[in-house]
Amino acid sequence: MNLKDHIREVPDFPKPGILFYDISTLLAHPDAWQVAMGRIAKAVAPRAPDVLAGIESRGFLVAAPLALKLGLGFVMVRKKGKLPGKTVRHEYALEYGTDTVEIQEGAIEPGQRVVILDDLLATGGTLNAAADLLTKVGANVVGAACLIELTFLKGRERTAIPVDSLIAYDS
Ligand code: PRP
Ligand code: MG
Repeated sequence: MNLKDHIREVPDFPKPGILFYDISTLLAHPDAWQVAMGRIAKAVAPRAPDVLAGIESRGFLVAAPLALKLGLGFVMVRKKGKLPGKTVRHEYALEYGTDTVEIQEGAIEPGQRVVILDDLLATGGTLNAAADLLTKVGANVVGAACLIELTFLKGRERTAIPVDSLIAYDS
């Protein structure tokens, strides 16, 4: 199955000139979604994670079913102010300004092997922020995986984390 057939391409979203790769159509197609989850499980399992980490918000769509499939727990890396209790934050630079990601204290045991899940790898800024946060709380980040990789944005070259992706776009 060619998973690209199930990604909808939306021109000029969210801004003129941007081509948006929409996973809604993949999520809505049970057979294609099953295939995608099977492939991502096959890529992630050999990294032998103890726990998966999903990046808010579209990363949750990938991390939660994958965790069930692999029989693992899943922790949320969230945008700031969303998680109750004690949290650990990491602020990172954007093109203009900064953003912050957050995790609950104690969500990861020091030394646990963690694979990070997101829907899409673009510049790698989000992945690196999540990886820095997880490292800060003692995780051993052993890999990352996503459905879509925009290879022309070179996110893979900007991260030290080994990344698996299912669908690549070069423009
Ligand atoms: C999108 C996408 C990735 C990130 C990739 O998330 O879901 O998380 O951007 O971009 P990068 O590699 O350049 O950092 P977005 O911030 O749009 O939020 P969402 O997941 O909540 O929709
Ligand atoms: Mg996202």
